[in-house]
Amino acid sequence: MILYFSGTGNTRLAAMRLAEALGDRCMEMEVHAAAVPRLRLADDERLVWCFPIYSWGVPPVVKRYVARAEIAGADSARHFMVCTCGDDCGNADRQWRRLLRRRGWTASHAYSVQMPNTYVLMKGFDTDSPEVAAAKLKAAPSAIDAIGRAIRADSAGSYVRGSWAWIKSSVIYPWFCRFAMSPKPFHTNGGCTACGLCSRICPTGNITMDADGRPLWDRDCAMCLRCYHSCPRRAIRYGHATDAKGMYLAPRSFLESRR
Ligand SMILES: Cc1cc2nc3c(=O)[nH]c(=O)nc-3n(C[C@H](O)[C@H](O)[C@H](O)COP(=O)(O)O)c2cc1C
Ligand code: SF4
Ligand code: SF4
Repeated sequence: MILYFSGTGNTRLAAMRLAEALGDRCMEMEVHAAAVPRLRLADDERLVWCFPIYSWGVPPVVKRYVARAEIAGADSARHFMVCTCGDDCGNADRQWRRLLRRRGWTASHAYSVQMPNTYVLMKGFDTDSPEVAAAKLKAAPSAIDAIGRAIRADSAGSYVRGSWAWIKSSVIYPWFCRFAMSPKPFHTNGGCTACGLCSRICPTGNITMDADGRPLWDRDCAMCLRCYHSCPRRAIRYGHATDAKGMYLAPRSFLESRR
């Protein structure tokens, strides 16, 4: 089973391509705060955990999922990790191994694939230029297919740890989770037409609409930026951090590129 969490679609498309290559079923993680996910693996079925990298670590919402999910058959299954990142992943693989160990599950190999960057909420961070995004999307399908072959063979494959991995994952990641994941700065500008899309697509159900049909952000935010990147009116802002920043959603054409 390929089990994925994705904000803006990179990981979803990677998971779908992997599922096709491996002939495995593909499911989205249920990440609502109240969800207690229950899954059942068939005998000898592997479990491939797919998620994006957040601040050189595992997204907190995925950590919560791993801690809570009731997965029959997980004790004896082979577990793999496939993450998508804009640049590099730090020691997110080690975090994932620790999370699994706490559940008594045995982690096998971890892999990563570079895809267009989606983080825009801090100074100096923006979406990739169209050229860089296109180059990443061109290279990713064959990288995913190579990961599929490595999973089939239960062998190691590409994982981009990057430089200063310990500082990024053990110092910056905890700081980021504590101080840079607040949904409070989210607001809309005058362009909001009260279409309700942001509320319907939020994976944690964190957005409700006020009496005028404008979004209100609650506290259970995955920081996935799906709302920001999906708004058809470009009306969602995060303080001033998103002024003049780009928008990105993974293109479906990615799945059509030839093997
Ligand atoms: C909150 C947040 C933090 C991120 N941190 C990193 C990072 O530390 N390193 C990196 O290479 N990419 C980082 N990214 C970029 C994403 O990992 C990358 O664009 C990923 O493919 C997005 O996947 P998705 O479309 O499935 O959500 C971050 C994105 C977000 C939203
Ligand atoms: S998606 Fe954009 S336009 Fe639609 S309700 Fe949300 S903020 Fe307003
Ligand atoms: S509020 Fe926006 S950023 Fe937060 S989880 Fe929902 S879609 Fe993602």
